[in-house]
Amino acid sequence: MNRFSRIGFILAAAGSAVGLGNIWKFPYITGEYGGGAFVIIYLLAILFIGLTVFIAESLIGQNSQANVATSFVTTSKSKNPNWKYASFMVFAGLIILSFYSVVLGWILKYVFISISDLPASSEIAANTFNNLISKDIISQIFFHTIVSLTVIWIVLKGIKDGIEKLNLILMPLLAIILFGLFIYALTLNSFSKSLEFMFYADWSKINSDALLAALGQAFFTLSLGIGTIITYSASLSKDVNIIKSSILVALVDTIVALIAGVIIFAFLFEAGAKSAAGPGLVFISLPVIFEHWGTLGNVIAVSFFVALIFAGITSAVSMIEPVLMFFIERFHMSRKKATIMCGSIFYILGIVALLSMSSSYGAQLTFFNKNAFDWMDYVTSSIMMPLAAFIISIFLGYFVDKKLLEKIFTKHTNLLVFNIWYSLIKYFVPLAIIVLFLNQIGVI
Ligand code: PFF
Ligand code: NA
Repeated sequence: MNRFSRIGFILAAAGSAVGLGNIWKFPYITGEYGGGAFVIIYLLAILFIGLTVFIAESLIGQNSQANVATSFVTTSKSKNPNWKYASFMVFAGLIILSFYSVVLGWILKYVFISISDLPASSEIAANTFNNLISKDIISQIFFHTIVSLTVIWIVLKGIKDGIEKLNLILMPLLAIILFGLFIYALTLNSFSKSLEFMFYADWSKINSDALLAALGQAFFTLSLGIGTIITYSASLSKDVNIIKSSILVALVDTIVALIAGVIIFAFLFEAGAKSAAGPGLVFISLPVIFEHWGTLGNVIAVSFFVALIFAGITSAVSMIEPVLMFFIERFHMSRKKATIMCGSIFYILGIVALLSMSSSYGAQLTFFNKNAFDWMDYVTSSIMMPLAAFIISIFLGYFVDKKLLEKIFTKHTNLLVFNIWYSLIKYFVPLAIIVLFLNQIGVI
């Protein structure tokens, strides 16, 4: 049968969670918000909101053993067929995958740059990167195509032979590379400085933006709000302790983010570079540092970018699987047909995203001061994913039989844990998301 084993599920869910969000995004936003204090807020957001919603998605999927649309309908108290509309969230995955694939393409290009072509100064590094995204359309399309075809090839093979196998191979390799980089960082003088930056709280840089960034990152990093966790846990036997598995996945994701942060800040501080470098951190600041380390630097650079590829590709396949399952089960499409259709959509959207950053086509693809790439990111991360998380929490808190949830929980843990989780999902999570939205539209 085309289903996950327990360990296969944990690896695949961890593979989905651990991605560019951990190794690229978490370090740069931590840098922007000044380190330790932001890390504490982030950890609280993961514990009270991220993990709560993660368990929620797992419960919905494992209980119904079906695609996102069917899962909502069969888990609801009333079996109201209109809950199928909650499956709008699977389309967010397709949009995220479009630009995620473009970014993975840049990273693939940087694997080659790392071999022999590292920039010798910050100026050259900035030029290399800016040139790639604003002028080099051919390279970007080439690498985006390679990434897209890889993703399509893997999901064509299905859950067991495609996704489970991919994670079985790449996740251990990723762990080995990160471990190696960590050991190297440990030998640097700046290691303790990096630890201090990451874990010593300076509350002066914390404002409401930081809180919202932490909340958004908690959803993104745990792959919530696009139906990935629902879809993956739908392929998991009902006997598996889903509470324990969820905690494990959230823990792995958090540990990887913290380790990636410690490694990257040790590298940055060793070179006397700034911690607040923004999104260009891994594409501009790090390559210059690697260049200064000579041949060893090339080895570290290749390892680093390969780690990013491995982490990213396992996340990428998890973005398309929910929408495939949706079409396969609800519209009785073959996996091949669904994959070709959805694959073409994200591939073309990706090209639109990359063209929208180019100096030649950018202007035509910019609407209301945001180019298409930024729009795709904004609409998914700031609107669709939080909205989906809101609907999930309201759904479980008010439209699902409490007894059913209590029964699943108490099979694996005790009533106290259930009551804490239930209050969080029913009151705290929806409230936090409403605050997030109100802040976005400028009301508070
Ligand atoms: N969790 C991934 C990361 O941290 O990079 C990104 C992601 C994967 C988001 C899958 C959403 C998703 F469904
Ligand atoms: Na993540």
